[in-house]
Amino acid sequence: MSLRTAIRHSRSLSLSAFGARFASSAAKLPTLKERLAQLIPAEIENVKAIRAEHGKKAFGQVTVDQVYGGMRGLPALLWDGSVLDAEEGIRFRGKTIPDCQQLLPKAIGGSEPLPEALFWLLLTGEVPTQEQVQELSKDWAARAAIPEFVEELIDRCPGTLHPMSQFSLAVTALNHDSAFAKAYAEGISKKDYWGPTFDDSMDLIAKLPNIAGRIYRNVYGRGKLPAIESTKDYSWNLANLLGFADNEAFVELLRLYLTIHSDHEGGNVSAHTGKLVGSALSDPFLAYGAALNGLAGPLHGLANQEVLVWLRKMQGKIGVNASDDDVKEYVWSTLKSGQVVPGYGHAVLRKTDPRYTAQRDFALKHLPSDPLFRLVGQIYNIVPGILLDAGKAKNPWPNVDAHSGVLLTYYGLDQMQFYTVLFGVSRALGVTAQLIWDRALGAPLERPKSYSSTAIKHMFESQK
Ligand SMILES: CC(C)(COP(=O)(O)OP(=O)(O)OC[C@H]1O[C@@H](n2cnc3c(N)ncnc32)[C@H](O)[C@@H]1OP(=O)(O)O)[C@@H](O)C(=O)NCCC(=O)NCCS
Repeated sequence: MSLRTAIRHSRSLSLSAFGARFASSAAKLPTLKERLAQLIPAEIENVKAIRAEHGKKAFGQVTVDQVYGGMRGLPALLWDGSVLDAEEGIRFRGKTIPDCQQLLPKAIGGSEPLPEALFWLLLTGEVPTQEQVQELSKDWAARAAIPEFVEELIDRCPGTLHPMSQFSLAVTALNHDSAFAKAYAEGISKKDYWGPTFDDSMDLIAKLPNIAGRIYRNVYGRGKLPAIESTKDYSWNLANLLGFADNEAFVELLRLYLTIHSDHEGGNVSAHTGKLVGSALSDPFLAYGAALNGLAGPLHGLANQEVLVWLRKMQGKIGVNASDDDVKEYVWSTLKSGQVVPGYGHAVLRKTDPRYTAQRDFALKHLPSDPLFRLVGQIYNIVPGILLDAGKAKNPWPNVDAHSGVLLTYYGLDQMQFYTVLFGVSRALGVTAQLIWDRALGAPLERPKSYSSTAIKHMFESQK
């Protein structure tokens, strides 16, 4: 049997096994873990076939500039969950954000996709049923409690410690109960790694709202944390832990927010950090703790905090209803003092980020005349032209972070230092989905080669 036939055979086998199972109990749909178990064997064969046929072919070259330039554009990573096109923006398993808004299950009465559904899509490439999503919400609610010592750890953090540092500390500490670390110590076989990685990932995602809620309430003095409600979806529970669940529009915003921040292909700092650390077979808690530390950088996830800080400073300096000329002058003063305009530019994108557009559409629907939203719109008409005139940024357009803080502020969540924590809750969906597939496909330890400047010089001198 040729390799291609073998793949087709194994795929149809797994599908027919699925069909048979489905026929024998028509009402019982597979859980996420069961569905993954069905999909993994065919994907292992698929990867084997690609490597057998194309393994020795090159599909890019490495320039010296890429070595010095943060590996920009270097084709070096595998991730099927999402792909980022410079012009079009993100697609999750082939689906754009508007596709997801249309196709993924929503809460009853809601119109934004549920992040539970996005996680299912990232892992399987399939749109789950409403019932499967509800089961996932229930499963996460059942796993949501955090160990007492992690609660104490958070409670002991000084309020002056940045919420992202508290967040990464708590996530790392969850490794105390890692199913993967335990199974590894007991000698689990390589081919079974993905199972406990999946269990840890589900636990990790499930526990993030309790961690985020606790940090929020401690730092901002918001009182006692309510209990998780097992009949409610993930975003509602997170909103409730933060104290905002009585505002249905805010809950809808969180559903959208957690969906669109989840994944942005494999090369961004948080996704790649998770993958890199996971490649050492560090468990999902350790890998995601590391990813969060990358997300906490101002050029990455912290930019959503930075945008609000920058907007507030601008308002302090030029007033709330400033003229275009005043805004232009303020933007130029930011650039001239050697700072970046937060929320603008991107390492891959060359157009307005569709995640920005999705949030703008939400704002147009729910808060069209909010003054801060209007300022964001005014800036959108001004900053790209200035960045183009300044002549450095390859992409003068806004990214996801240019908008999120404005929406959160509108609903009263105006503690900007907390914004990246919400980003971190969402990004766990993408990073863990990647970790699970990496373990399923037997991804090896990452180990690229580094060179010294002397070696690079010599390499080309000898070619003169
Ligand atoms: C996202 C970001 C880090 C991408 O970096 P990058 O891939 O190196 O971007 P570029 O190749 O366009 O950078 C070329 C130059 O333009 C500058 N530039 C890029 N975006 C800029 C911005 N928003 N404001 C001012 N200058 C910017 C870079 O700092 C760089 O300057 P340098 O040559 O002096 O080092 C960058 O656009 C940035 O700092 N943006 C603001 C922070 C932000 O919003 N981050 C969230 C990203 S989702």
